[in-house]
Amino acid sequence: MKHNEKILILDFGSQTTQLIGRRIRDLGVYTDIIPGDASLTDTVLAGVRGIILSGSPESVYTPAAPVPDPRIYTCGLPLLGICYGLQRMTADLGGLVEPLPQREYGGVEVRVFPPALPAACTDKGRRFFAGFDRSIPLSGLITGSTKCPARDLVFTAWMSHGDTLTRLAPGFKEYGRSSTGFPAVVIHQDQETKPWFGLQFHPEVSHCERGQEILAAFVFGVCACAQAWTMEQYLEQVNVTLVEQISTSPVLVLISGGVDSTVTGALLLKALDPEQVHLMYMDTGLMRKNETFTVQRTLEGLGARHLHIVRSETAFLSALKGVEDPEAKRTVIGDMFITIQEQEVARLGLPDSCFLAQGTLYPDLIESGRGIGAKAQLIKSHHNVGSPLVEAKRRAGRIIEPLDKLYKDEVRRLGRLLALDEEIIRRHPFPGPGLAVRILGEVTQEKCAILREADALYLEELKKRRSPQGERLYDEIWQAFAVLLPVRSVGVAGDVRKYGWVLSLRAIVSTDGMTADVYPFPIKDLLEISTLITNTVKDIGRVTYDISSKPPATIEWE
Ligand code: XMP
Repeated sequence: MKHNEKILILDFGSQTTQLIGRRIRDLGVYTDIIPGDASLTDTVLAGVRGIILSGSPESVYTPAAPVPDPRIYTCGLPLLGICYGLQRMTADLGGLVEPLPQREYGGVEVRVFPPALPAACTDKGRRFFAGFDRSIPLSGLITGSTKCPARDLVFTAWMSHGDTLTRLAPGFKEYGRSSTGFPAVVIHQDQETKPWFGLQFHPEVSHCERGQEILAAFVFGVCACAQAWTMEQYLEQVNVTLVEQISTSPVLVLISGGVDSTVTGALLLKALDPEQVHLMYMDTGLMRKNETFTVQRTLEGLGARHLHIVRSETAFLSALKGVEDPEAKRTVIGDMFITIQEQEVARLGLPDSCFLAQGTLYPDLIESGRGIGAKAQLIKSHHNVGSPLVEAKRRAGRIIEPLDKLYKDEVRRLGRLLALDEEIIRRHPFPGPGLAVRILGEVTQEKCAILREADALYLEELKKRRSPQGERLYDEIWQAFAVLLPVRSVGVAGDVRKYGWVLSLRAIVSTDGMTADVYPFPIKDLLEISTLITNTVKDIGRVTYDISSKPPATIEWE
C-alpha cells in the first residue's frame, strides 16, 4: 500500500496516542504510529511530512523514560510535541523539566499570544496559531486560507501532566500560558530550519476546545499536507495490491460474522475472481440469534461461491461441559476453535499456495503486540491471533490483512463503499468466545437458548426505539448485550411462586472498547424492555441494568 504523504506519530505510551492518529485521519491525512524509540530510517521517513511526539505515563527524568531517535532533530521535518512530547524535546535540547507540586488534570484555561510573534516569523508559525482562533472554521484551516490572529486568544485546553517546563530549551519561546501559570504553547524561533512546536495540553482529546483545529493547523498549515486519505482512494489501491499479491492463488477468508471480517470478505470478492475466494465461518453454537443465517445471506449476496459453514455446536458444548472458570472457558473455546479449523481446512483440500485472509485492524496490531505502538494496553485477545494456521501462513508470507491500516470507523466507511448492508456495518462488536462469556458459570444448550432469546429481544427493541435526538438507541450505543447470571430469584407467575433466572442488560458508549461509559438509558425504555423480556422469556424472572463503567469493570462480564 503506497501513501504519498503521512504524519508519523512517535508513541511514548500515552493512552491517547491512538486518538492523535484517528483525529488526523479524520482530517483526511494518513498517519502511522511507531514506538517512540524506533529508528528513523529512510524507509520509515519516506513520505513523512511531519512528526508528532505523543504523551507518556513516564517523566523525562526517570530511567525508564523513552527517548526518540536523535534524527528527529536533524531531519528538518516539522515537529509537534504533545505533553511528554514537548517535555522530551525540551529535555533533549537543553531545557529543564521538573515535577509540579500537584498533578494537573482536566479542563484548564490557556491564553495564547500570537501578536508576540516577531515580524520575521515565517508563515508556518503564523498558520499554526490560526488553529486557536474561534473565528476560523476547520475548512479554512484545511485550505490554508487563514491569517495569524492579531490578538491574544483564550480557550479551554485539556491537561493531564505531573511535570512542567521550568526552563525552555535554547531557541524556544513561550506563546501560551495556562491560567495556573505554566508554559502551555512553546515554539522554536528559527522556524525556517526548525519548525518545532510544543503543547503542554492534549489537542487530541475531544474535551479540548479547538483541539481538532489545532491539529489541522499543524497538519495543513505547517506540514502542508493535502487531504488525500479517503476510503475511495484506499479501495482503489487495495484492489490493485490484492491482485498483485494473490494473483490467481486461492485465498481462504476466516469469517466471524462481525463487520471486520465481512468487509475483508467483500473486498476479496470484489478484487478477485469469486472462484478463488473460500470463506469459512464456524457456528460454535455460542452465536447470537439468527447469526448464521445473516452471515450466509450477506456473503452470498456479495457473490460468494465457496462459503463453508461449519456447524460445531455439539463439539463446543461438550467441551464446555462442567467448565465454570472464565479463563478456562476461553482456553477450551480457543483450543476447540483451532482443532476444528485445522480439520476443516484440511478437509477443504486447499493447496499450500493458498493465502489466508483475516480482518485484523490497525489497533489490533498494537494489541497483539505485533505492531507499531509499543506500549498500548493489552485487552482480552482475539482467539484468531495465536492460531497455528495463522502463524504458519504468516511464516510462509501468505497472510493477507487488507484492513490492517484502518481504524474501525474507516472500515465502516469502506463497508459502505462496498455496498454492504447498513445493518452489518452498524453491528455492535461481538466477542470471539460468544455467549460463553455472557453465561456466567457453566454453559449449557438450554442457557444459550434462553440468553439468545432475551438478547435478541433487547437488541430488537434498541433498533426500534429512538433517543430524544431521533437516533435509534442501537446506533447511539457502542455495544449492548444481555448477560445470564448464575442466580435464580423468587418471583410470582399468576398465583404461584417461581424461580426464574436473573438477566443483566449492558449498554455502553465507547470509541474503541478500551474505556467505556454506561449508556444513560431513558428510564421508560429500560422499564418497558424489562417487562417485555420477563413476559416473553419465561425462564427469566428478573432483569437488572449494569451501571459499571470501564475501568474498573470490563465490558464483558467474563
Ligand atoms: P472487555 O470485556 O475486555 O472487552 O472490556 C473489550 C471489547 O473486546 C471484546 N472482547 C473480545 N473480543 N475475543 C474477541 O474477539 C474475546 O475473547 C473478547 N473478549 C472481549 C468485547 O466484546 C468488547 O467489545
